Amino acid sequence: MINLKINGRDVSLDIDPDTPLLWAIRDDIGLTGTKFGCGIGMCGACTVHVGGRATRSCITPLSAVDGAEITTIEGLDPNSNHPVQEAWRDLQVPQCGYCQSGQIMQAAALLKDIPDPSDDDIDAVMTGNLCRCMTYVRIRSAIRQAAD
Ligand code: FES
Repeated sequence: MINLKINGRDVSLDIDPDTPLLWAIRDDIGLTGTKFGCGIGMCGACTVHVGGRATRSCITPLSAVDGAEITTIEGLDPNSNHPVQEAWRDLQVPQCGYCQSGQIMQAAALLKDIPDPSDDDIDAVMTGNLCRCMTYVRIRSAIRQAAD
């Protein structure tokens, strides 16, 4: 049995501990805001917070997060009004939107670690979150706005 606290809710899962966290979040817990992109840790679409740190849930087995506190895009703010989400809306960052929950979770973790990041800080942390619509310029602007 794997026990998690996800978005403040206690969850017990009786499934294979080798199951990737992403599968459990989407298929067993039913939170579908976290997306599957590559499945090999290369795109960032599946980013969640584990113990407050940005984590690729597609390559994180459940056995590695037993007892952990996990936050998904649904739990980032109870009203979806985290400063990063507000900035994302203000600047209309998404295009197709598929990668954006991962982008937002990565950006929120960045701002927790570095409250006033430089462009170089932003690029260094966000470089692993890919966007096929090339929203990178708006992502950077939104992170700077959220930091103000
Ligand atoms: Fe996890 Fe791409 S789906 S990094």
